[in-house]
Amino acid sequence: MSRESTLIVIFGATGDLTRRKLMPALYHLHLKKRLPKGLRILGVSRTQQSDHQFRDSMREAVKAVDELSVRLGEWDAFAELLSYTPGAVDSRDDMTRVANHIEKMESGAQPANRLFYLSIAPQLYEPAIKNIGLAKLASEETGWRRIVVEKPFGRDLKSAQELNRVVHRYFNERQVFRIDHYLGKETVQNLLVFRFANAVFEPLWNRNYVDHIQITVAEKVVVGDRSGFYDRTGVVRDMVQNHLLQIMTMIAMEPPSALDAESLRSKKVDVLKAIRPWKPGEARQHAVKGQYRGYEEEKGVAKDSRTPTFVAMRLFVDNWRWHGVPFYLRTGKGLPTKVSEVLVHFRAPPHQMFSRERLPSNVLSLCIQPDEGAYLRFEAKVPDEGMETRSVDMRFQYKSEFRTQAIPEAYERLLQDALAGDPTLFIRSDQIEESWRVVDDLLNDEDGPSALPLRLYDRATWGPEAADALVTQEGRSWLLLCGGHEEAYV
Ligand code: BG6
Repeated sequence: MSRESTLIVIFGATGDLTRRKLMPALYHLHLKKRLPKGLRILGVSRTQQSDHQFRDSMREAVKAVDELSVRLGEWDAFAELLSYTPGAVDSRDDMTRVANHIEKMESGAQPANRLFYLSIAPQLYEPAIKNIGLAKLASEETGWRRIVVEKPFGRDLKSAQELNRVVHRYFNERQVFRIDHYLGKETVQNLLVFRFANAVFEPLWNRNYVDHIQITVAEKVVVGDRSGFYDRTGVVRDMVQNHLLQIMTMIAMEPPSALDAESLRSKKVDVLKAIRPWKPGEARQHAVKGQYRGYEEEKGVAKDSRTPTFVAMRLFVDNWRWHGVPFYLRTGKGLPTKVSEVLVHFRAPPHQMFSRERLPSNVLSLCIQPDEGAYLRFEAKVPDEGMETRSVDMRFQYKSEFRTQAIPEAYERLLQDALAGDPTLFIRSDQIEESWRVVDDLLNDEDGPSALPLRLYDRATWGPEAADALVTQEGRSWLLLCGGHEEAYV
């Protein structure tokens, strides 16, 4: 009989991410019977508590996210997989104790696999990885070892390179799973399906037919409880370096020859490498940073904080396909609504035959959330009005097309892939460094006389007015089509 065991060790087990995302995702995988046989989950954090207390608090956490599923009567079986041991990741003694605890838990199991999950403050990644290594937890003598590292991986290019060096001291790249939960979203994966499982769009997907591309990731929420983390991080590190650039690479990449991890990730790296760097002082022309009014009054935020909560920027991809096509990216907190959307604006018809002064161009909208799906906007003849035209939308919505298949949480897919050892949807070391290179210009522009000004904006608006000017000065305008936002915005 197989004595195989797999242990997920969650460092930061009492934290927000574990409570809101990891534990609900693991519980849902349990309900779907997708967890490997012999799996156990060990929580580790500074708090002193018993297994029993940990299980109870995790039950409350999962209930807060999905009360119904906890009532299904499966919780007790899942709770048996959970246990807890206290320990601080930056204490070598504690980590030695944790290592002994793990070895006891595994005794007799063969193989005994381990997945370490760093769900801790980013400044603790380095000591945690070192202490995992020094406690010999990473040695693969008795089974595979993998480590999942949350974002942001580093604070800039230099620190990301250093963190890569530290992690590679104890783990091979194949064991390292740098997570960006946007890659676990069904609709982000659908960007690949949309582009490469359909022949109709690909011939148009280039500078000859595309005028420009917009990527919006807007959030209505403000920083709230996470101000301690956020004030040190800011929107560029929190959202742009990872989520927005990942979406952009999937829109701009060349078709890979296969869907395996290396082919796919190499094509993404090619895009990042082709993003045009800004010369010193050039950030002003291409980016706008903002902070919502009242941010400084949030609990835990420094009184004179210069942390941006909004950014809009224009990037160019200097390659054959995209030469001269602007990619406009914007993201922020305290905006009017939560929406993530990619808009591909095609070129306007070259010749004007109809009565409208200027025909609008066709727009393809890929809705990442919350109105998951796609829209294609084109012109149609208005009935009984001569040759009058009007823009209309063709629409695909996940919720009406796949009624019985709910869209799972991103973390479910990513945890499953990490357990299966599939790195396709995780970030490779060169990819992380290239994406820091892209945003370093923006981060380095924080101080000095030519620094990008931090503009204040009111909550529930679309950021500073200058963000509109970034596109209007070029005769374009921001647009949102998902979820009928257009009326609210334009
Ligand atoms: C996280 C950021 O990575 O993504 C948060 O740290 C942000 O600040 C969140 O709110 C947004 O994720 P989602 O899935 O709600 O769009």
